[in-house]
Amino acid sequence: MSEATTNKDPLSEPFGSLFGDSMTIAQMADGIYTYPGHAQPLANFSLHPATHVFHYGSACFEGLKAHRQQDQSVAIFRLDDHVERLRQSIGRLRMPVPEASLIRQLIVDAVEANSEATPDAPGSLYIRPTFIGTAPNIGAAASPSDSATLYVICSPVGDYFAGGVRPLTLYVETKVPRTTPQFGMVKSGANYVMALGPTLDAKRDHGADQVLFATADDVTETGASNFFLVDDTRLLTRQLDESFLHGVTRDSIIRIGADLGYQIEERPIAPGELVEWAATGELFLSGTAAVVAPVGTVIVSDSAVTVGDGTPGPNTLKIREALTNVLSGAAPDPYSWRTPVAG
Ligand SMILES: Cc1ncc(COP(=O)(O)O)c(C=O)c1O
Repeated sequence: MSEATTNKDPLSEPFGSLFGDSMTIAQMADGIYTYPGHAQPLANFSLHPATHVFHYGSACFEGLKAHRQQDQSVAIFRLDDHVERLRQSIGRLRMPVPEASLIRQLIVDAVEANSEATPDAPGSLYIRPTFIGTAPNIGAAASPSDSATLYVICSPVGDYFAGGVRPLTLYVETKVPRTTPQFGMVKSGANYVMALGPTLDAKRDHGADQVLFATADDVTETGASNFFLVDDTRLLTRQLDESFLHGVTRDSIIRIGADLGYQIEERPIAPGELVEWAATGELFLSGTAAVVAPVGTVIVSDSAVTVGDGTPGPNTLKIREALTNVLSGAAPDPYSWRTPVAG
């Protein structure tokens, strides 16, 4: 890690504020990607003020993690699934889609170069592959950038939500959508800035940690995670369609939940159902950053409902533990989700 960050503890610093000192970079020009084949020192970019991404939002990214295993080796979680999702995002920005093998190499090389910075569990090395359109052309509002930079940086992290595993307060937003229908599945920066206003408003007006978007009474996801309901027998989440991000953690939890014996339901969820579940079941968020984050209070139609007794429920904690055991190598890896990297 760079000198400025070496002495800092990732578990107590804000999520994403420390950086490994190496990065990987590939350039695209006229549809052709080139990569020097090795990591280089983390450094600033120099970009023309007319660069496409600054004006027309030609940006998307991924978020995945490498975890220090119990034997001290480092493994990336569900690498190929994140590679495919980045390819999907780049395609939906109407930019030339790189080969999966190139993105994979950029990520593995970046993690290998930064692997020493991977903290022990519950910390991890958060990996941020990023794609930006770099053509210096403010006339290109209605055309894709003909050049791009694809790069990978790494950040040693602890918990995403300050305060560790604590019950969150969720505000259910039924009027303002998180993003547009055609961009629900795209991991683009534009989606996050669109969700910011409603999230800040819900923090200010309702003391909420996160907003659960439920436009037209259709519960989907929060600004940065998917959403589950669970009780002693059932595990429920919204069925996949193009309106929201297909979380890799969501998919992992469904498979782990089925293996634990839960009956899996993927179907529409109305806000009223959250109130019913709050009485008898549990609510939680899922994501690479959030892992499994329990919800203690849900605000539906502006009235706050306590979930169970307001503390993290046993089923949520059971699923969280089963997942973190796979992440850390404490449990077997029946689905080959871990990719070991050289240290
Ligand atoms: C909007 C949104 N939904 C869901 C997720 C969860 O996705 P994943 O589990 O792949 O991290 C994320 C985080 O990446 C997100 O930003």
